[in-house]
Amino acid sequence: MKSNVISLRGARADGPSRAGRLAEALRRRIAGQDDAIDIIAPYVQLFESGLAPTGRPVGVFLLLGPTGTGKTRTVEALAEALHGHERHVLRVDCGEFQLDHEVAKLIGAPPGYLGHRETQPMISQQKLNAAASEKCPLSLVLFDEIEKAAGSLTRLLLGVLDKATLKLGDNTAVNFERSLIFLTSNLGAREMMDRLEDGFGFASLAAVAAHGAAAKMQAIATRAVRRRFSPEFVNRVDQVITYAPLGRRAFEAILDLQLHALREHLAQRLGARAFQVELSAEAREFLLKEGTSTRYGARELKRALHRHVIQKVAGLVVDGLTHPGGIVRVEKARGRDELTLRPRRGSAAA
Ligand SMILES: Nc1ncnc2c1ncn2[C@@H]1O[C@H](COP(=O)(O)OP(=O)(O)OP(=O)(O)O)[C@@H](O)[C@H]1O
Ligand SMILES: [Mg+2]
Repeated sequence: MKSNVISLRGARADGPSRAGRLAEALRRRIAGQDDAIDIIAPYVQLFESGLAPTGRPVGVFLLLGPTGTGKTRTVEALAEALHGHERHVLRVDCGEFQLDHEVAKLIGAPPGYLGHRETQPMISQQKLNAAASEKCPLSLVLFDEIEKAAGSLTRLLLGVLDKATLKLGDNTAVNFERSLIFLTSNLGAREMMDRLEDGFGFASLAAVAAHGAAAKMQAIATRAVRRRFSPEFVNRVDQVITYAPLGRRAFEAILDLQLHALREHLAQRLGARAFQVELSAEAREFLLKEGTSTRYGARELKRALHRHVIQKVAGLVVDGLTHPGGIVRVEKARGRDELTLRPRRGSAAA
């Protein structure tokens, strides 16, 4: 099986650079956010060259923009490319730390305090090291939805971003020098959407995203971040990346990515019993309509695919109705908001 981890070793001098190959690997997983990819990939190269600065994280990125546009997916895709699995990330959901005293869950209670022995800090050097892998010694750390973080968490984060250290409750320190840190936030996203809708209407959103509204979107998002966080905090971020609302082409590409993943999953799980899944143009259109929107991006697409295709495929498998090496043809039911699945023998697509 082809490994989905790309190796720096064995690179040819005339081939694309490490950053180039990593960017390619990310583009195969993330649609319509090439700017983000091109900003992030060189930091991995910098780390692997050994030239990343000491005394601070390898890179600190603030990912902004509307929901369902690929912010979290970017970190997962990077984990896949570097470590072989999308969940190979040390992830902190800042929504769990909305009250000041809750940071004890993150760093553990000081010795002598009630609960000191019971509380395992959510972050420790061991956990951070475990987020690296044999394939790549770089740990990916994700602080999701930082706008929800209590002030005490933001203050702790300052030390992480600035000096790459986090002091734990038991007074030991965690070193983040071999980490890429991602902060994500929806700050400014609503204003971005309102502005886009006012100014241009839904229909031309994709065109807008492609033609220079990006700078304006970034300005709106950055302004919202500056209102919420102190200058010290914002200044410690290496790159503020604003994810643009996704357009039709990106949505189609994301559907293709998810269908590809479904096919791989079937092949892997069913082995010799596997079959192809083919969608009619109307079936694709139906999934795009159900699963994508300007408001929620591609967030619902996986669910739509799951509900309308995967669950029904599973039903066919359980009932023994599929044919090894055959096809399951997915079509839109006439006059109903549903898809119908028809298993067939043979392999050639009509
Ligand atoms: N640009 C994209 N490329 C590929 N898949 C995407 C993209 N955007 C969204 N998706 C799909 O939608 C799902 C949700 O996207 P993701 O979690 O990255 O959203 P987000 O930008 O982090 O939103 P939120 O602000 O709500 O956290 C992903 O798991 C993925 O399946
Ligand atoms: Mg997210």
